[in-house]
Amino acid sequence: MSHFTYGIPILEITYIVASVLFILGLKMLSHPLTARRGNILAAFGMGFAIIATIAFHKKDGEPIGNIPWILLAIIIGTVIGWFIARRVKMTAMPQLVSFFNGMGGAAAALISMMEFPHIRPEFIAEHGMANGHVLAILLGLVIGTISWAGSMIAFGKLDGKIGDMRIKAMRYVNMIMMAIIVGLVIFIMTRNVTNSSELSAFVYILFSISLVYGVLFVMPIGGADMPVVISLLNSFTGVAAAMGGFLYNNQAMLTGGILVGSAGTILTVLMCKAMNRSLINVIAGVFGGGGKQGAEVTGTIKEITLSDAAVLLSYSKKVVIVPGYGLAVAQAQHSCHELDKLLTEKGVEVRYAIHPVAGRMPGHMNVLLAEADVPYEMLVESEEINPDMPSTDVVVVIGANDVVNPAAEDDPSSPIYGMPIVKVRDAKNIIVMKRGMGKGYAAIENLLFFHDKTRMLFGDAKTSLQNLINEVKNL
Ligand code: TAP
Repeated sequence: MSHFTYGIPILEITYIVASVLFILGLKMLSHPLTARRGNILAAFGMGFAIIATIAFHKKDGEPIGNIPWILLAIIIGTVIGWFIARRVKMTAMPQLVSFFNGMGGAAAALISMMEFPHIRPEFIAEHGMANGHVLAILLGLVIGTISWAGSMIAFGKLDGKIGDMRIKAMRYVNMIMMAIIVGLVIFIMTRNVTNSSELSAFVYILFSISLVYGVLFVMPIGGADMPVVISLLNSFTGVAAAMGGFLYNNQAMLTGGILVGSAGTILTVLMCKAMNRSLINVIAGVFGGGGKQGAEVTGTIKEITLSDAAVLLSYSKKVVIVPGYGLAVAQAQHSCHELDKLLTEKGVEVRYAIHPVAGRMPGHMNVLLAEADVPYEMLVESEEINPDMPSTDVVVVIGANDVVNPAAEDDPSSPIYGMPIVKVRDAKNIIVMKRGMGKGYAAIENLLFFHDKTRMLFGDAKTSLQNLINEVKNL
């Protein structure tokens, strides 16, 4: 396709510009300082691509029709998206991401549903049904539908509306359904027909089975595995959108889809690595959220007073703060930064240990601390900071639980066994700030809280931090 306006292939140029903006945006997303601008840049790219398509795209020499309807849909989508995104709490971000991802999958599936009946009889007469165009339509339908259904279930689970459903036989049911899906795709592509409408019923069956498969695929996966699944579904949506790019010969859609697909796949692999698990193991669903208790609890809980904590911290040389989900719940990031500044002024070296799955979304702690202007240099990946733990005077665990749970190293019966953790117990002193003895996301006991070196500072993280700051100031 060529869309020349005054001799200039304006549409193609816009798509290339949009693709470059996507790539630059994605690159900038990899650093907290540039992430916001990266996001805006990529959004501009998408805006350009949409405007150019509406203004310059031609089908059979005709401009695309239904412009008022398209504009109305864009306005409705923008208003709803804007409204939801503004109101959502930071801690509910994973649900939102899952929901929006599902919408992408649904859009890709709809494209395929619309395009299948549009395969022309002349095209079929020339190429048959077994060709790339039909395959792109069917793959877009299958992958988009699975992503949509799976993302909706993931949304429900993360929002606490849907529980886990683990039946061993489901794995086999899922395998059989996948075989039926592959069989149906082959069946449709090898039929000898003159008109695609003769196969409409099979396309609807394919859609229905993919829908059920998407639901059953995510249903048994639970607890701490959800981020991996969301990332995997995200890559599915990317691939489904790329199929649309093939169909319409649209470079922007193709690049966008491939970027989402590959970024989602890389993130999935990295998260599996962070949890020391294989993707197959995650999909088979045996980890997290089960509430299984491993080793027996021994030791006692010891509390620390605010003044003792203030003295301990102020006279330390090296302090490491381990933020977790509770810090986000309490919105205590600003108070936390105030404490680190105060201690730094007193000559203490303060750093943050960032665990890859602390909080509820990838990069949650980075985003939270960046919001409070904590210098990025103070944030150190847990893997990197762990060797320094023995020389650390005090570790302050703020609202973190699973990511510091030694059961991951000690207890093969624990559902989090094998997950790399922040090796907090190697430090000389440990202060844990949380409201009570509540469990973390994986719903298991944490023996760290009963450790000899550990002292608990109970209370909401923000209130405790503010009280602690006052004590440190009064020293
Ligand atoms: P969690 O293990 O979830 O523990 C958070 C702790 O914060 C709780 O034990 C809770 O104890 C405490 N807390 C809650 N509200 C608080 C408040 N207002 N003030 C003080 N403390 C508060 O957190 P984590 O260590 O960050 O681990 C994250 C978990 O979520 C992992 O299991 C991870 O796999 C999973 N997950 C991660 C992601 C991503 S990608 N980051 C996504 C989904 C799930 P109290 O109730 O006693 O206060």
